[in-house]
Amino acid sequence: MIRKAVIPAAGLGTRFLPATKVLPKELLPVVDRPVMEYAVTEAGAAGVTEIIVVVSPDKDMLLRHFAPNPELEEGLESRGKQRQLQSLRAIGAGITLRSVLQESPLGLGHAVLMAQDAVGDEPFACLLPDDIFLAKQPVIGQMIDVYRERGCSVLAVRRVPRDTIGRFGSIRFSTHEASVYTIEDVVEKPDPAVAPSELALLGRYVLTPGIFAALARTGRGAGGEIQLTDAIKQLLSTEPVVALEFEADYFDVGTIPGFLKTSIALGRAREDLRVELDEYLQRLISSPPDRPPSSA
Ligand code: UTP
Repeated sequence: MIRKAVIPAAGLGTRFLPATKVLPKELLPVVDRPVMEYAVTEAGAAGVTEIIVVVSPDKDMLLRHFAPNPELEEGLESRGKQRQLQSLRAIGAGITLRSVLQESPLGLGHAVLMAQDAVGDEPFACLLPDDIFLAKQPVIGQMIDVYRERGCSVLAVRRVPRDTIGRFGSIRFSTHEASVYTIEDVVEKPDPAVAPSELALLGRYVLTPGIFAALARTGRGAGGEIQLTDAIKQLLSTEPVVALEFEADYFDVGTIPGFLKTSIALGRAREDLRVELDEYLQRLISSPPDRPPSSA
């Protein structure tokens, strides 16, 4: 059983500056929820009970969103705002969150390594909050099912057009059984012309504790950072690793265009917002960009 999950959230979020000068990018809201809440909810729905959030020294604010706020709750109670009260109490219900520190942003692999003591010697889930997945069964839950069958690390992959594979990590596989691929190699941001496949790695992992030894051996790679993909490459020399082509709707909130598109899509997914949003989008699309219709 996988009980623990790591959420690396110590990156600089430079793509969103100056919005992220003070506010961690994981707290930027998509509709009415901070980005990170989507990953926490997904992990909880898959049976995770303990989440280790890797934070930078200035990001203590992140954990506060998941801690109870008795004063606010009392205020809502006395104003009869039951719906808001329930949604507040549901945040991270049944999950214990703790933070570990990554003193400086030396890369995703380094962030995961910082969680080693908190994870201990057991397999764990790892969720990057920049990727949001919506599915009947949570993506990390689909991956935990594969872990139960195979007993090895599981990576999440999605088929993308070849000309976009260079933005992701990609896998070389030997065989596949339905949507589970036996991985031979992983390549970070390949040249599309020579990419080993069109299967792109996205931000969900189930990892065996063997990853920590591999990370400890991994030096700085692309961008001078310790890359998780490089450690997975090392892990492959000692353990099998598989990839799951998951079933879910995928949204990127790690880039500004992705973030804007996700906000519109998830806004439209809400019945109480859809009619107004659709009506506005139709007027917007037929207006000149420098003369948008009023949003009031
Ligand atoms: P990203 O590279 O997408 O995030 O890392 P970033 O570095 O914050 O963003 P930009 O490129 O500057 O805009 C993927 C995930 O890994 C975490 C990030 O917080 C994000 O959730 N991360 C990255 C760390 O925790 N530590 C790091 O040193 C780097």
